[in-house]
Amino acid sequence: MEAISDLAVHATGLTKRFGSTLALDGLDLAVPAGTVYGFLGPNGAGKTTTLRILATLLRPDAGTARVLGHDVVREPEAVRARISLTGQFACLDEDLTARENLRILARLVGNRGRAAHARAQELLDAFNLADVTDRPVKTWSGGMRRRLDLAASLITTPDLLFLDEPSTGLDPASRLQVWDTVQALADAGTTVLLTTQYLDEADRLASRIAVIDHGRVIAEGTPGELKAETGAGHLHIQLASPGQGEQAQAALAHLLDLPVHPDTEPGSLSVAGPAADQAALAVAHLECNGIPVAAFALARPSLDEVFLALTARIQDSSKEHAA
Ligand SMILES: Nc1ncnc2c1ncn2[C@@H]1O[C@H](COP(=O)(O)OP(=O)(O)OP(=O)(O)O)[C@@H](O)[C@H]1O
Ligand SMILES: [Mg+2]
Repeated sequence: MEAISDLAVHATGLTKRFGSTLALDGLDLAVPAGTVYGFLGPNGAGKTTTLRILATLLRPDAGTARVLGHDVVREPEAVRARISLTGQFACLDEDLTARENLRILARLVGNRGRAAHARAQELLDAFNLADVTDRPVKTWSGGMRRRLDLAASLITTPDLLFLDEPSTGLDPASRLQVWDTVQALADAGTTVLLTTQYLDEADRLASRIAVIDHGRVIAEGTPGELKAETGAGHLHIQLASPGQGEQAQAALAHLLDLPVHPDTEPGSLSVAGPAADQAALAVAHLECNGIPVAAFALARPSLDEVFLALTARIQDSSKEHAA
C-alpha cells in the first residue's frame, strides 16, 4: 500500500444524504498520485456526488477527504488551486463561439491578451475543433460540446483532474481522442480520477479501479485483480472427436456443477465460470475418461462480467439481510 503522502486523494467514511436519499454511505477511497484511477458504478451509485465533494463543490455530512494533502472542508482554496473538474454536463456559454469561451476561461485563470489567445488556439487544435471554432456553441452537436468542455478544463494543466463520464455521448472516433488526451495528461504527471459506466474505458485507461454501488466501494484493485477476484471467465474446449460433444457435456456438467454449452463449431464446448484449478481438472477428467481434448483455453472475464458479478453479489447479500 502507498504511503499516505503518495496519495492524490485520500477519503475515509464519506457520507452524504439528500433528504431521504443516502447518496454516500461511508465511502473510502485512496488514489495514488500520478495514475489514472477509474471510478465505476451504475446510475445513482454516488460517483458525481463523490467528485463534487472532492472538488469542494459540496460538503460531506460526515467523513474526511484530503486532496493533494489538503482537507477539502478546511482548506478548499488550496484544493481548488490545483484541481480541475469536467462535469457530467457541459457548462459553456451557448451564445459564444469556442474560441471566445476558451479565451474567457484562459483570462479567468490569469492569462492575459496574447497568452489567453495562444492557449485557446492550442486547445482548439489539440481537440480538432478548429473547423467549427467560430460558430456559437448552441449550434454544436453534443459530442463536440463535450470535447470543448474537456478542452476548457485543461486551460491550466492541473495536478489532479476530475473527469465525470468524459466520453458519454461521443462517437467512437471522439472517444479515442478523449482517451488519448487523458493518457497524454497522465503521462505528463497529472493524476486523473475518471468516472465511467463504460468498462472498456476503465480497462483501457485506469491502473486501478474502485467499483461503487449504493454509496460504498464494493471492490477495489487493478483491472486484473478485479477479474481474478470474481473468477468468472470461460473455459473453451475443442474435442479431438466432434462426435463426443454430448458425452463431454454431460461429464463436465456432472464434474463441475457449472453450466456447459456447446459452441457453434462441432465438438467444441464452453464452461462459464470455472477457476483455473477446476479448468485443469476438467481437461484431465475428459482425457482420463476416453474423451481426448484437441485444444483448450481459459479466457479471463471481461470487466463487464466482473461488474455484473460484483453488483449481483451485493444484491444477493442485501436480500439475505432482508430475509
Ligand atoms: N442535489 C441532489 N438532490 C437530491 N438528490 C441528489 C442530488 N444529487 C444526487 N442525488 C441523489 O444521490 C444519489 C447519487 O447520485 P450521483 O449523481 O452521485 O450518482 P452517479 O453515480 O453520478 O449516477 P449517474 O451514473 O447517473 O451519473 C442518487 O440517488 C441521486 O438521485
Ligand atoms: Mg453522475
